[in-house]
Amino acid sequence: MTMKRALITGACGEIGQALAQELAKKGGYRVVTSDIAPLPDSIKGLTAEHVQGDLVYKVKVFYDYDFDVIFHLAASLSSKAEIATEEAHRINVEGTMQLLMLAAYRSEKYGKPVKFLFPSSIAAYGMPTLDAKKSAGAVKEEDWVSPHTMYGCNKLYCEKLGIYYGKYFGQKHLDEKPPVMLDFRALRFPGLISAFTLPSGGTSDYGPEMLHAAAQGKNYACFVRPDTKISFMAMPDAIKSLMTLMDAPCEKLTANVYNVAAFAITAEDFRQRALKAFANVKVTFEPNPRRQGIVDSWPEDVDDSRARKDWNWKPDYDVDRFFEEYFLPEIRRRYGRQGRG
Ligand code: SER
Repeated sequence: MTMKRALITGACGEIGQALAQELAKKGGYRVVTSDIAPLPDSIKGLTAEHVQGDLVYKVKVFYDYDFDVIFHLAASLSSKAEIATEEAHRINVEGTMQLLMLAAYRSEKYGKPVKFLFPSSIAAYGMPTLDAKKSAGAVKEEDWVSPHTMYGCNKLYCEKLGIYYGKYFGQKHLDEKPPVMLDFRALRFPGLISAFTLPSGGTSDYGPEMLHAAAQGKNYACFVRPDTKISFMAMPDAIKSLMTLMDAPCEKLTANVYNVAAFAITAEDFRQRALKAFANVKVTFEPNPRRQGIVDSWPEDVDDSRARKDWNWKPDYDVDRFFEEYFLPEIRRRYGRQGRG
């Protein structure tokens, strides 16, 4: 069997680790990883090679590699990006641009489109007021795309860059047969929750942080108000969406950018679930104005009907299945607490 060649950037992050494990389980892929950090134990031995360092400077290394698919996950998340805006722009935009140029070059030179899978985010949206957020409900891909954050601006712009390099780079006459170009596919992820890893530097982090703290019997001070509502998804569903979009036939795709969603719940819903599952923990609310502002600008929910229609997207975990069949059993195994559940 010919192995497909995949690159995962930001491989040491939450999505990267879960994706590297999934590709290893699936088989048929020779995976090269890159990250500023060394590989964690969870994926050591699962990948063929790890290139450690700053992606912006390391991209040139990859010009000699023949990748069928690139998962470009490396990013500075929303809370961190808001503090160090220039650095975030460099990582999120410059890194993406460098990698898109590489994929565009290889696609055209070898006449084979490199697939470029890009995790975008609910941060690409910007709701002007809490009233607008409430009344908008589940937003579609083209609506409310006026991000309030550096991270959201970076993600939205990189979606545009991906479409540019995948469709228009080289500027052929509109009637001319276009050259072979990279195949850019983006997912706008909601907040993601893994039972195995914790996020860092994001703003949806209060969900996973609260649950992991409670599972360890630790109290948690939540940095957003109890009524704060956004959409979340189990990490296995995020990986499933990446794999399904990667394999979707080109002719089925009516767009380059897709929302994916699973369940939209409030911080208070998280608290109730955490207290029900784990005895003797306290969850309090101590909103941080800056982080509250970020999450208030994100929609309560996203409409993923385009993904459902084009490539049969459907999450495996709604909120009940997420807690009962994924998070709680895995987390109890990990931290060894039985709790009340
Ligand atoms: N989870 C990300 C963050 O909080 C949003 O995509 O920054």
